[in-house]
Amino acid sequence: MTNVLLATFALLPDGETGGDLVVAALADQGISSRWVSWDDATVDWAAADLVAVRSTWDYHRRRADFLAWARAVEGETRLLNGADAFEWNCDKAYLTDLDDLPVVPTALLDDATLVRGLQTALDRFGAVVIKPRTGAGGVGVVVAESTSDPRLEGLTAAPWVVQPLVESVRTEGERSVYVFDGTAVCQVDKLPGGDEIRVHELYGGASLPGALGAESEELAERALRAVAARLGPAPAYARVDMMRYDGGLAVSEVELIEPGLYLDVVPENAARFAELVARHL
Ligand SMILES: Nc1ncnc2c1ncn2[C@@H]1O[C@H](COP(=O)(O)OP(=O)(O)O)[C@@H](O)[C@H]1O
Ligand SMILES: [Mg+2]
Repeated sequence: MTNVLLATFALLPDGETGGDLVVAALADQGISSRWVSWDDATVDWAAADLVAVRSTWDYHRRRADFLAWARAVEGETRLLNGADAFEWNCDKAYLTDLDDLPVVPTALLDDATLVRGLQTALDRFGAVVIKPRTGAGGVGVVVAESTSDPRLEGLTAAPWVVQPLVESVRTEGERSVYVFDGTAVCQVDKLPGGDEIRVHELYGGASLPGALGAESEELAERALRAVAARLGPAPAYARVDMMRYDGGLAVSEVELIEPGLYLDVVPENAARFAELVARHL
């Protein structure tokens, strides 16, 4: 039996919500698998036929260690998407590299450019969002309407990206489209709750199965072609997040490292992911 390791992190040893569905779906494909923490020194990665990064939701705090681990694993066995993709994708500066796509306008900020760069963005957009360049789960997402906005107290350590506050997030929300081997397979619609702009459940957001429409399907697949043109090999899996901005859909994130599969919302993603793994063995 082929043997697959699903990488998670120490606080979530059994993997993402519904992680057992992935193990069962892989078993249906004749593949044995188990969840292991990426930093567990007792794991023999070389003994696996394939390693799939899934819920490694501490990587943004431990970026250098995580990337070094990915490089080491890749030297020993197949690693889905791979360390080059992870390195490119773990810094939201990649959004500034996708200038042939509709992307939420993104500029880079650090401590030296904070006041000037923030003022420039405020002059252009009125209200802005500042967030860490390496971040996940909505951590450190700050809204500001002036350089003296008290919410700026919430900034995490530099560097950051700054974007317009995309107002449609409050009404239309954010769409997440899963793209497996270049093909859009499903959509999850996410809406923030109350005054929040973050769609995550932790902050009161709600996620529902969405209807994959032509517009989001087309943009998601186009985004993957643009990413593949930069990275060389096309990523096996991705989640493309998008919001309505300036009349059309714009990419807000391309997640190539650890996109949660939302198995509580779309349990079918377990079988889809298992089929993807089987294709790459
Ligand atoms: N420019 C923006 N306009 C409106 N909402 C935003 C913007 N940037 C982020 N958000 C909200 O914050 C959430 C987290 O930001 P995101 O860029 O997805 O970072 P993370 O990597 O933490 O998921 C998004 O899902 C969205 O709800
Ligand atoms: Mg996100």
